[in-house]
Amino acid sequence: MKLFIDSADLSEIKEIAALGILDGCTTNPSLLAKVGRKIETAIPEICEIVDGPVSAEVVATDYEGILKEGRSLAKLHKNVVVKVPLIAEGLHAVRTFSKEGIRTNVTLCFSATQALLASKAGATYISPFLGRLDDTSHEGMELIEQIVTIYQNYDLPTQVLAASIRSPYHVTQAAVIGAHCATIPGKILKQLIKHPLTDVGLEQFLADAKKAAATAK
Ligand code: E4P
Repeated sequence: MKLFIDSADLSEIKEIAALGILDGCTTNPSLLAKVGRKIETAIPEICEIVDGPVSAEVVATDYEGILKEGRSLAKLHKNVVVKVPLIAEGLHAVRTFSKEGIRTNVTLCFSATQALLASKAGATYISPFLGRLDDTSHEGMELIEQIVTIYQNYDLPTQVLAASIRSPYHVTQAAVIGAHCATIPGKILKQLIKHPLTDVGLEQFLADAKKAAATAK
């Protein structure tokens, strides 16, 4: 499964990229607002750090507006994937982007039929929002499972990008189900590294190595 960071925070992105585990990055208007950055300047900087797809989201909601914004975002860097909301105008624009060779990430997906339509329109990625579904007492992971099955049934090339991830267990479940990618906040990516038994085991090995060094002949 490809691992993307869900962030617009350059220092966080740099820190995770340095681990050598990052396949891409997703941003959205809220993440950019959180770090006080404009999309036109932040995205090229992220693309210099992340050697993979970097999603940049349009804020227009009409067909012409989405096309205009998406085309100019795509020109910012070769890594840019244009993020488009799952609305009728968005699907129409995704079809046009696909003809133009512009890659897309269709966002704010909350149902399997929405995901089917996005793929029919030519989306490169579909982003089902797990955590936000869980927040409304629905099982977000069921949606991932349905989309993966539907895409497999019909050999659809759109990649499932599990989004709105809230815990390491979400990542495990998405990987077991077979989501192609997951976009994960930096904090959770760091949690994925940790296990208490690793820490206890390492402490023991280091103590024994010290003991052995002191007594070894
Ligand atoms: C995905 O592309 C979105 O940026 C993100 O995963 C949304 O997550 P949230 O529900 O935690 O805001």
